[in-house]
This record gives sequence, C-alpha cells and structure tokens, in this order.
Amino acid sequence: MNSKHKTVFIAFSSQKGGVGKSTFTTLLASTLHYRLGYNVAVFDADFPQHSLMKMKSRDLAMVMENEHLKKLAYKQFTTINKKAYPIMQHKADSVLEAAQEFLNTSPVAVDVVFFDLPGTVNTPGILKALAGMHHIFTPITADRVVMESTLIFTQLLQDVIMKKGETSIETINLFWNQVDGRESTPLYEIYNQLMEQLGLSLMQSQIKNSNRFRKESEENSKTVFRSTVMSPDERLMKACQLDQFINEFLKIIQL
Ligand SMILES: Nc1ncnc2c1ncn2[C@@H]1O[C@H](COP(=O)(O)OP(=O)(O)O)[C@@H](O)[C@H]1O
Ligand SMILES: [Mg+2]
Repeated sequence: MNSKHKTVFIAFSSQKGGVGKSTFTTLLASTLHYRLGYNVAVFDADFPQHSLMKMKSRDLAMVMENEHLKKLAYKQFTTINKKAYPIMQHKADSVLEAAQEFLNTSPVAVDVVFFDLPGTVNTPGILKALAGMHHIFTPITADRVVMESTLIFTQLLQDVIMKKGETSIETINLFWNQVDGRESTPLYEIYNQLMEQLGLSLMQSQIKNSNRFRKESEENSKTVFRSTVMSPDERLMKACQLDQFINEFLKIIQL
C-alpha cells in the first residue's frame, strides 16, 4: 500500500492500572513479531515499575528451564530468522525522541513501536507522549471507577487534543477486557450506549476473562501464552477471543 515505510506508534493506554496495558502490549507485540512477520520494538516507559523489562528476563529463563519450550523457541527462531524484539526502558517525557533516535539507527526497518506508558496524567510528558501515538487502544472493564475515569479521559483526548490537530493520533479505540461469559450485566449495555453518545469508538471484539492471563507458564507446561520471547499459543488465543481482537486490531492500524 504505502511505498514509503512508515513506522506505526501504538499505545495500550488507560488511567487505571491493572486493566491489561502491559499484558496486551506483550501479546500484540509477540504476535506481530513472532507470528506475523513484522518487526516490532517496545518502549517501557511505565516508570518506576518497568514491568516489561523485568518480564523479558523472566520469560527467557522460563524457556531455558523447560525442555519442551526450548524446542518450541528454537523452532520459532529458526523459522522467523530474526532476533527477539528489543524492549527499551525510558522516561515518558522524552520517550518519543528516544524512539525516533532508535529508528534512525536501527539496521532493520521497524514496522511497529509499542509504548507502555504510565497511567497517571500527572506523569511529566505523558500527554505529549500520547499525542505522538498513531493509535491508542484502551482496555475497559465493567467497573464504575474504571469506566468513569476512562470515559472522561478518552473524551478529553479526543475532543481537546485530537481536534486541535497538533497530534499524530489517528484512532482511539476502547475495548472490553476481562468479560465474564456467564455474566450478562446490564452494565455493558448502558456503557455501550454511553460511549456511542459520547462519540467514542468501541471495538467489536471483547476479551474474555481467563485464568490464562494470571498464570505464568508452569515448569513443565507445553504452551506459552503471554511471553515477550514467543508468540502466544493459538488455541489459548482462541479460547479468550484474542484471535478476533487481533484481526480487528490489524484492520485499524493498516500496516
Ligand atoms: N482478559 C483477562 N482475563 C484475566 N486476567 C486478565 C485479563 N487481562 C489482564 N488480566 C490480568 O490483570 C492483571 C493486570 O494486567 P496488566 O497488564 O499488568 O495491567 P496494567 O499494565 O494495565 O497495570 C494481570 O495479572 C493480568 O494477567
Ligand atoms: Mg503495566
């Protein structure tokens, strides 16, 4: 489509912690890089947690200690014939410059950079960093506190920052995460209507609540779900409807 190479900047962003920012950054980065053949880089700007940086060394150790996963990893890396994606740590207020610098010196053409940004608006430079994204994805859960802070903040982003035209933001997308299959609370309907009235875009795919997210791979498990060094197992992806989410995600970002 594009003759000139454009690197797409993406953030999973939310005001509330614990809704899935780092998890989705990892799942999408790993799927794009290890399964779909794109070149990915990740900036972990969620100071002082820096959970993604820590995750990579844990994930590597876990693979090396498990014979089955070690074979899987070997197969994966010989098939894709490239290294694991880099995860770099940087403060939010200058993370855009750091990413640009990285792209300028990278020997490979990078297709997507994911930014794991801090949740609080009080973090210096957070709004500037958000304004530098092309696409923002915001997980929401059926929780009044999450919804209130998310709707207010997203509307502000959309109406104030995007309309000023001084940003790179092309789309802001909300999506339901941790949806309990058995529960048919009227909350979803009410919030869906509210989002529509506010002119916010809600993704069609919903991610189910699943134990998979909470479990680290066990010592002798044969599959991987959330890992920074391997792509998520296909069956596990389907079970929580992550496969549908990824299709919709790819349509939105138009690589
Ligand atoms: N769909 C889901 N089902 C069950 N647990 C989930 C789901 N999505 C995220 N989680 C869990 O929620 C917790 C917080 O996720 P995390 O990505 O660390 O949030 P954040 O980066 O926004 O603070 C993690 O333990 C993660 O495994
Ligand atoms: Mg996090």
